Amino acid sequence: MSYIQTKRWNVNKSANLQNIEMNLQEAANLIKDGHVVAFPTETVYGLGGNALDPQAVTDIFKAKGRPNDNPLIVHIANRDGLNELVTEIPLIAEKLMDAYWPGPLTLIFHANDKVPTNVTAGLSTVAIRMPSHPVARELLEKSGVPVAAPSANLSGRPSPTTADHVWTDLEGRIAGVVDGGATGVGVESTVLDISGEVPMILRPGGITREELTEVCGHVELDGALMDDGQAPKSPGMKYTHYAPKGSLTLVRDRALIQELATKARAEGKRVGVLTTEERANHYDADFVYACGSDGDLKATAALLYNGLRAFDDQEIDVIFSEVFDENGVGAAVMNRLEKAAGGRMIK
Ligand code: TXA
Ligand code: MG
Repeated sequence: MSYIQTKRWNVNKSANLQNIEMNLQEAANLIKDGHVVAFPTETVYGLGGNALDPQAVTDIFKAKGRPNDNPLIVHIANRDGLNELVTEIPLIAEKLMDAYWPGPLTLIFHANDKVPTNVTAGLSTVAIRMPSHPVARELLEKSGVPVAAPSANLSGRPSPTTADHVWTDLEGRIAGVVDGGATGVGVESTVLDISGEVPMILRPGGITREELTEVCGHVELDGALMDDGQAPKSPGMKYTHYAPKGSLTLVRDRALIQELATKARAEGKRVGVLTTEERANHYDADFVYACGSDGDLKATAALLYNGLRAFDDQEIDVIFSEVFDENGVGAAVMNRLEKAAGGRMIK
């Protein structure tokens, strides 16, 4: 892939309002003209291009090194944008959109023939979401097109929650990065399939199962999320993903963590531990990351990918992580940790 000069626009709250406006317009024009630009959403940074332009979509896959059988989420500014992409809008979708859009919920619809096949990876369905981050919303408005955007990381790496994370992975490979500061939720949107009889969670995320149940009455979990050996229905969930460079193991018994850490250090490894503030000082390791505090799963979600990347910055070879509660957004945290660990879990 040839080197591109990557622009960086500061649209943080600290920036001058007029500059923010100009920067967002420049980024939006680039998207409109078929270029690929990273921008913040309330979940993670996305790598956006015009979803109706197959070449722009191809360039997204190339920049990330993403396998092309893994479809993209299309981001829209408003509900009119939805009508242009789908064949029908089920009643349950209306209810879910009323409750959780804009926000971290991706819905799977039947696609119409305007959606390029590389966006959907050849599936008959398309994933759509309306983000709530003000910068994302403004950019979508200004670009005037639906924007296909996977997370703005190199394929397989932890998703980016800051513009620096994006820069580390994609500088020289994309047209620009809109820097709107750290994202809020920190894990990706929930992917919910409503194209069948019963709504089914394909990927846990920012909108919790509990919140979906309030609206839908009953939601199912893709069996692949429960370790039953099935192939996941969301193509992206089959890849080892979100992975730091060091080898990560989840350890349910906290008392065992120090023992394992000490042993690995004796073998000459650089060892990291992922824990919370309460126990950060208890561990003797080369690097300890406090991922929020006990019981505050939202803070843990917000810090998780930053933590996984911090182990890389510290050149850690072996990471041991505590295990988190799986209620609320904890389901998404544990799903990502399990993937990052490639299934290595000591019970
Ligand atoms: O929060 C998010 O969703 C972020 C921000 C940037 O919006 N985006 C994101 O995109 O996480 P990505 O590409 O990293 O993940 C999209 C997930 C993948 O697991 C993909 O397989 C799934 O959505 N997906 C996309 N289209 C699908 C479809 N038609 N049917 C089933 N799964 C689909
Ligand atoms: Mg991703």
